Amino acid sequence: EKGTYDHFMLKEINDQPATMRKIIQEYQDKDENLKIDGAVIDQLKSSDRIYIIAAGTSYHAGLIGKEYFEKWAGVPTEVHVASEFVYNTPLLSEKPLFIFISQSGETADSRAVLVDVKKQGHKSLTVTNVPGSTLAREADETLILHAGPEIAVASTKAYTAQIAVLSILAQVTARELGKDTEINLMRELAKVTTAITAVIDDAPEIEQIVNEYLETTRNAFFIGRTMDYYVGVEGALKLKEISYIQAEGFAGGELKHGTIALIEENTPVFALATQERVNLNIRGNAQEVEARGAKVCMVSMEGMDQEGDTYVIPQVHEMLTPLVSVVVYQLIAYYAALHRGNDVDKPRNLAKSVTVE
Ligand code: M6R
Repeated sequence: EKGTYDHFMLKEINDQPATMRKIIQEYQDKDENLKIDGAVIDQLKSSDRIYIIAAGTSYHAGLIGKEYFEKWAGVPTEVHVASEFVYNTPLLSEKPLFIFISQSGETADSRAVLVDVKKQGHKSLTVTNVPGSTLAREADETLILHAGPEIAVASTKAYTAQIAVLSILAQVTARELGKDTEINLMRELAKVTTAITAVIDDAPEIEQIVNEYLETTRNAFFIGRTMDYYVGVEGALKLKEISYIQAEGFAGGELKHGTIALIEENTPVFALATQERVNLNIRGNAQEVEARGAKVCMVSMEGMDQEGDTYVIPQVHEMLTPLVSVVVYQLIAYYAALHRGNDVDKPRNLAKSVTVE
């Protein structure tokens, strides 16, 4: 039930702190150490490469997951759009592990890959919000997101839950493989929870951003570098699917290779700057578009912010910033759709789970 909320999407955005707390609780043992089922860890330890298979928002969560598996656990990881993988399978490593990420566990494109993979005798793990779903039943192992039912077509809390669960999985793998990349993840996720709450409390301020940047526009761009790039792609998808504003996410450095031609007077560009290593680079890219007339909404993080930034998220661990920054974009998409009088929870042409290939 959506209770006092006008829409399921807004409720689900607001559910995110509780979902984070639930995940922290579900994935720790009584001594508060990270805990993942032994069979899942065995799968990871005996694999030489991970293939993440997903669609839409779940694919975007997979892009962040790849960073965790490679940077923390040292396991090479590829992320693939399910519908492409089926008909254009890349060369596989000797001991692949397939991880299917799916909120619903019913996405036909992902299932087509799973059926194939099983035929070939490869190992599979499903990360899903729905226990007993098709992908959960058919894969060798399953991890549950514990986000509670997600009703709005636009996925919000499932995305952050997917990233949180993947971070836990990668940290446990790193620990089991004896890597020295362990962080106090539970403590960091608790900080993330507080930060998400702070962003949600700023909803009126974020609605103002929509008034200022998106009221009349037909298009918008999202730029970022490294993980911020992936969040930008997710922000663009969210905006597209419910506000019908044409939006695209780009790697900051790639703009000048073509896309910058689309920048006109007052074109809204959302730039995300949460990553120290590329902070100056993305700010340079923002200046490039500003010089061509773009209206830049700079979203940054405490500690890296500069005067004039439009919105600053609280500081969290640099690998976990997507969990917080995406909430800004979720709220921007929500208010943009609301202001245009669209059916926020049930956008045109879309279904919650896509069960046809
Ligand atoms: O249930 P799944 O996670 O497998 O769904 C995948 C996509 O269809 C889904 O994420 C879609 O992109 C959302 N509507 C995005 O908000």
